[in-house]
Amino acid sequence: MKAMNPLFPNGLILINVSFREGNSPDHHQNITYNQLLRNVCRCANALKLLGVKKGDRVAIYLPMIPELVYTMLACARIGAVHSIVFAGFSSESLCERIVDAQCNILVTADGVYRGDKLINLKKIASEALERCKESMASCVQKCVVVKHHAFRTNTDASNKLQTPWDESCDIWWDDLMDGVSDECEPEWMDSEDPLFILYTSGSTGKPKGVLHTVTGYMLYTSLTFKYVFDYHHDDVYWCTADIGWITGHSYITYGPLANGATSVLFEGVPVYPHVGRLWEIIEKYRVSKFYTAPTAIRLLMKYGREPLQRYDLSSLRVLGTVGEPINLEAWLWYYDVVGQQRCPVIDTFWQTETGGHVLTPLPAATPLKPGSATCPFFGVQPAILNEHGEELEGEAEGYLVFRKPWPGIMRGVYGNQERFESTYFRKFPGFYVTGDGCRRDQDGYYWITGRIDDMLNVSGHLLSTAEVEAALTEHPSVAEAAVVSRPHAVKGECLYCFVTLKDHKEFNRTLMEELKRKVREKIGPIATPDFIQNAPGLPKTRSGKIMRRVLRQIARNEKDLGDLSTLADPKVVEVLFSQRCEAAA
Ligand code: WT7
Repeated sequence: MKAMNPLFPNGLILINVSFREGNSPDHHQNITYNQLLRNVCRCANALKLLGVKKGDRVAIYLPMIPELVYTMLACARIGAVHSIVFAGFSSESLCERIVDAQCNILVTADGVYRGDKLINLKKIASEALERCKESMASCVQKCVVVKHHAFRTNTDASNKLQTPWDESCDIWWDDLMDGVSDECEPEWMDSEDPLFILYTSGSTGKPKGVLHTVTGYMLYTSLTFKYVFDYHHDDVYWCTADIGWITGHSYITYGPLANGATSVLFEGVPVYPHVGRLWEIIEKYRVSKFYTAPTAIRLLMKYGREPLQRYDLSSLRVLGTVGEPINLEAWLWYYDVVGQQRCPVIDTFWQTETGGHVLTPLPAATPLKPGSATCPFFGVQPAILNEHGEELEGEAEGYLVFRKPWPGIMRGVYGNQERFESTYFRKFPGFYVTGDGCRRDQDGYYWITGRIDDMLNVSGHLLSTAEVEAALTEHPSVAEAAVVSRPHAVKGECLYCFVTLKDHKEFNRTLMEELKRKVREKIGPIATPDFIQNAPGLPKTRSGKIMRRVLRQIARNEKDLGDLSTLADPKVVEVLFSQRCEAAA
């Protein structure tokens, strides 16, 4: 049975709405732009009641529910700066981000189901606030808690989970909104006033608060949304990202809503309650523009064509991808099987820092090459430099940089101008440095080859080796740790960790489990190591720098190690090779 959608009596869209689809297919709701406006205004007035003023920072730690969008737009409406923390991050990560941005308010929810997994968000949020207090850096005065209805009504949830409550700080969302006016004049802003902060991993290990401002960001996300997805009034657009990442900020909230688009807001995961969930949603809402990540495509490829054949995907027109280089096999599957060879695959290269797409094809206008993000968006000027900062012409491979700013480029690292300059502008003066390697072919097409700094890309999420290493070395048995990436069939890259233990400590299964737990607690489940190898010694240069290149090759079982003459003790490498992990931990 196909679900009938009352908004499409004759295949026509009558009003533009957001389709809100819960974790379970039974939970869905249509939200009109009028309802959105009223809810945003109500939330804006409520934040004002709590004392939030223009320029104040509001931390948001919510799952993919409408209240997340209401809160971010409410902040924008009153000139407050939102700082959204992905609801999969640990209490420690949340605390670190709250403290760095000195947020006065935290908005969270009691709990959430992600697939069949129950997550007590409020408990994590409360732990984070406790931690902030301990570090004497407490700044949060009020914690607003959304009663997540679908979570509450699930019979066993309320029995299983306790919601910690601090009367002096915590307040239920519903109580706060009760009786609050649904009209709120927007605050007048300067075009360069801050709109939001979003943290991204930094190669030193400490996350950077990427700062975006009001007008340039809004202009750039709405323009790229319109052209890159070839958006038209009768489209139904769906991006599967989480709003906790930049993709969701730019291409679930700001870009589509600024265009008055009809879109889907999905709370769940791709394989729950069944492996055809995404295809079911495309059919249910007649989605025409679909945007997802290579890691999701690779995950769904594993189940073959059968789950797709059960659904009508004929509404699809454009297929977008983002987050990491897309491998040929995944590209072809996306094009052939999902798009039935009708829909261009739009490989969009960009970053938290760029605000919106910078290298991307335009549907029907740009001839495609599988695996290439093709050409720059209007006004963007890429260049490829060699190690000495010399610009390379024509066919070339090197550092991907941009010559001139575009409206959506970040305006700073929150509270740290020095880090902004040193991270992005110092290596090659006059250019913005992406941190990615890139090849330009004879047709002038750009091919991203991956990060060339100490960053890893796990399922489209950037992690720094330093932050994982810091988590590992917090364990009392660990003396030193070095983390590298290794290719992974679904995640793209995964973590391969080398740990050197302190004297007389034993490397065993219990320790491995403890180390994995440590990383999950400190950063979040996305950073869970796949491989942990005991390393009696690490390959170091005479000046003591760990040679990650060698470790990467050991992790990948690449026998030809090249020049090892700079190593202080080349024997270390043999030992590591002989003990390398074949199977995941
Ligand atoms: C890094 C940025 C942009 C939203 C999601 C990630 C990698 C992103 C592509 C692509 C090859 C890509 C790059 C980039 N990346 N899109 N289409 N092809 N690589 O945002 O966490 O800021 O990560 O993701 O390495 O630098 P982010």
